[in-house]
Amino acid sequence: MSRLHSRLQLDTTPMKPPPTTTEKLPRRPDAFAERNLRVGIIGCGYVGLPLALRFAEAGHRVTGFDTDPRKVAKLNAGQSYLRHIPAEKIQQQLSCEHFQASGEFAQLREMDAILICVPTPLDERREPDLCYVEQTAHVIAQNLQRGQLVVLESTTYPGTTEELVLPILERSGLRCPVSSAEDVTTDFYLAFSPEREDPGNQQYSLAQIPKVVAGVNPPSRLAVEHLYRQIVTRVVPVSSTRTAEMTKLLENIFRSVNIALVNELKLLCQRMGINIWEVIESAATKPFGYMPFYPGPGLGGHCIPVDPFYLSWKAREYDFTTRFIELAGEINVSMPYHVVETTAQALNARHKAMNGSRLLILGVAYKKDVDDMRESPALKILQLLQQRGAQVDYNDPYVPELYAMRHYDFSGLKSVELTAERLAGYDGVLIVTDHSCYDFAFIVRHARLVVDTRNATRNVAEHREKIVLA
Ligand SMILES: NC(=O)c1ccc[n+]([C@@H]2O[C@H](COP(=O)([O-])OP(=O)(O)OC[C@H]3O[C@@H](n4cnc5c(N)ncnc54)[C@H](O)[C@@H]3O)[C@@H](O)[C@H]2O)c1
Repeated sequence: MSRLHSRLQLDTTPMKPPPTTTEKLPRRPDAFAERNLRVGIIGCGYVGLPLALRFAEAGHRVTGFDTDPRKVAKLNAGQSYLRHIPAEKIQQQLSCEHFQASGEFAQLREMDAILICVPTPLDERREPDLCYVEQTAHVIAQNLQRGQLVVLESTTYPGTTEELVLPILERSGLRCPVSSAEDVTTDFYLAFSPEREDPGNQQYSLAQIPKVVAGVNPPSRLAVEHLYRQIVTRVVPVSSTRTAEMTKLLENIFRSVNIALVNELKLLCQRMGINIWEVIESAATKPFGYMPFYPGPGLGGHCIPVDPFYLSWKAREYDFTTRFIELAGEINVSMPYHVVETTAQALNARHKAMNGSRLLILGVAYKKDVDDMRESPALKILQLLQQRGAQVDYNDPYVPELYAMRHYDFSGLKSVELTAERLAGYDGVLIVTDHSCYDFAFIVRHARLVVDTRNATRNVAEHREKIVLA
């Protein structure tokens, strides 16, 4: 048990009445610079699991909390359910007792720091669905102890930490005043630190990505700074949790808007007979003032298609319309329709109707080399092709079988083998996700028609007459 925690146990009981101002904090913010803290991570998904393992590697004793009992069981058995997290990494931390998974949320009381990494999706009306954050805040409030640090990591609109999480936590009877006074008295610490994890990115690991942090008051900011300095090379403190929340949204809106821009220019270039990818590569030779973004079949993943709309929703409270976000969303959402239309035209040029054609989608994950299908444009393309009467199969080395999701149900559809005979049997093959393991020369050689949404076939020299860029 950590020194901090044993101190904590001596002078705390759950659900205390509001403390008087003369009561002292059981620990100072710099206590979070100590090793061997007990860190609880709520939500062991794409964000929470790598974060948990990073804290474990740094010498802390980490408990990964999750409401999904299958994930808890797998983790405790040393198994991984994320392709980019090797099971050995989990086993290593289990064996030195730096990591365990749990569905028993009462154990939150034993933690020094609690980090929230639960989903923040959009609901059916494309409005923020903060039910997971709310549920989590209630569970923490039931178990909150004086001196604990709570950090929200989930991506959300500016104001969530102060307006939503804080009031729920204060139902415990403990107080954490929003203040800029250095000497403010606070019973627990509350902070926001956006997660910038990029699953599958070989160049930047979690430890190398600077961590933006902010507290609702100065002691909270200090506490979160000390904690994260232990796991990343650079911590960037900002003045308020709203600033930190907005920082993450700016990053993702920047991507969404720039991707929409090149997607729109791609449509124009196609009409003008210009190769947009060649244009981008040549523009990218400028050493300043330009950053390349690439067109594609549409946006995917948990973040870029979702996060900007958290801000659009919040902006309405201020009578403000976020036009760039809406326009980018409109263009990006239209891309799967463009891919399907281009496929129909390419089939037509080969005297073939879409209705009754046999098509193969390559790659259903939302980006290359990951197994994550959330919001993947491949699913929309699959749906649209089926609606137009095509018989569609798919291949994805990382997604052996499709399952029911929020907007789609292709459950039972299994990834087909990628053989020369099979490729030749389809009227068309659509490259939707350009996994690195695909042999595009082989694919083009054996397919009759290739609709390439990623310029994945750029280095294929033979049979270019079969390729249509979409
Ligand atoms: N995936 C990314 O690349 C990425 C990158 C940066 C930020 N984010 C943000 O991080 C947050 C988490 O995203 P993710 O991709 O890790 O999601 P995820 O769906 O992979 O993982 C979330 C986990 O939380 C669990 N969970 C749900 N409700 C819970 C609850 N009440 N208590 C405990 N566990 C609960 C789920 O079972 C799941 O294991 C989101 O806000 C997302 O926008 C994600």
